[in-house]
Amino acid sequence: MIPSYLVTGGAGFVGSRLVGALLARGDRVLVVDDASGPTARTETPGPAHPRLTWFRRQVEEAPLTSLMEECQAVVHLAAVVGMRRTMEQPRRTYARNVRASWAVLAAAERCRTPLLLVSSSEVYGRRPPVPVPESAPLVSSTWSEARWAYAASKVRMEEAGERLQRRRGVPVWRTRLFNTVGPGQSGRHGMVLPRMVEQALTNQPITIFGDGDQTRCLVHVDDVVDGLLRILDCVEEPGEVLNLGSSEETTVAALARLVQRCASSSSPLLHLNSERVYGADYQEVRRRVPELDRAQRRLGWTARRSLREVVEDTVTTCREQLPRLRTAAL
Ligand SMILES: NC(=O)c1ccc[n+]([C@@H]2O[C@H](COP(=O)([O-])OP(=O)(O)OC[C@H]3O[C@@H](n4cnc5c(N)ncnc54)[C@H](O)[C@@H]3O)[C@@H](O)[C@H]2O)c1
Repeated sequence: MIPSYLVTGGAGFVGSRLVGALLARGDRVLVVDDASGPTARTETPGPAHPRLTWFRRQVEEAPLTSLMEECQAVVHLAAVVGMRRTMEQPRRTYARNVRASWAVLAAAERCRTPLLLVSSSEVYGRRPPVPVPESAPLVSSTWSEARWAYAASKVRMEEAGERLQRRRGVPVWRTRLFNTVGPGQSGRHGMVLPRMVEQALTNQPITIFGDGDQTRCLVHVDDVVDGLLRILDCVEEPGEVLNLGSSEETTVAALARLVQRCASSSSPLLHLNSERVYGADYQEVRRRVPELDRAQRRLGWTARRSLREVVEDTVTTCREQLPRLRTAAL
């Protein structure tokens, strides 16, 4: 029998690459995605693929139980993402994410289907230790500040997943992705690399929010997909929490200069006040670096691509897509 997987959010940036990888290795994939996300879905194999079925609807309204009965495991990626959307609509971000996770967890409990819940490094809050291990304290799942609404929705999902595994014995894996980037990602909702690359290729100023000394570790989406596939290969074992990310740390200002060089761009660098971009309640995370020993030990996984390769790949793809981006902006 062909292995089958349910992927929520499978039409999004990470999801479409994961779906492509599952189909490429011969698996069957059921996607539930309401196409509300910002990412162009050109990477998703079309609904005509014989082993892909796409249910274009909200997770909460999909027939999850009957879909899960056909599947080996579920990868839950569907979520409202992006700092801009979180800051503009914190209540909606939190409510939508929690509702979708609840629906997935309830169906997995009924069907006893193993789950891979995709969470975020945002759960570590404003001042994570460097590097941050999975055991570090998390933000509260009952949020009070707009800035942390998205993170809180992920913590709530993780807590419920952990309970499901402990009380009901359903395997639940939780993975916290650190800044995941690469071809096909949209810059519309505040994602740093695609925004800078689009600016560099269209001769607009490359914008740096704040002083630019804040650091990030950018990991290529295909490295993350490799990590997710490795989890799926052992998904029936008791799950744990795993950071997935890169250990190559860069300041945002250095990233802007690297984008400028890789795109051979003459765009100037422009610093913008983060509070003017996201509002007065915005709080910056100064350094965000994952500890990756657990993913290495449990999955034999490390990110293979360097920051330079990630940026070059993103520039190349974005350059090819520029005419389409320009048309979409008209
Ligand atoms: N890209 C990153 O840097 C990053 C970092 C940390 C965590 N993550 C997590 O990875 C997952 C995928 O992120 P992404 O970057 O691919 O974002 P994305 O916006 O491209 O993909 C999310 C997809 O989920 C869909 N969706 C959202 N809510 C839905 C709902 N209620 N019902 C059905 N579909 C719904 C959207 O249409 C979209 O296609 C998310 O859970 C996100 O929190 C991503």
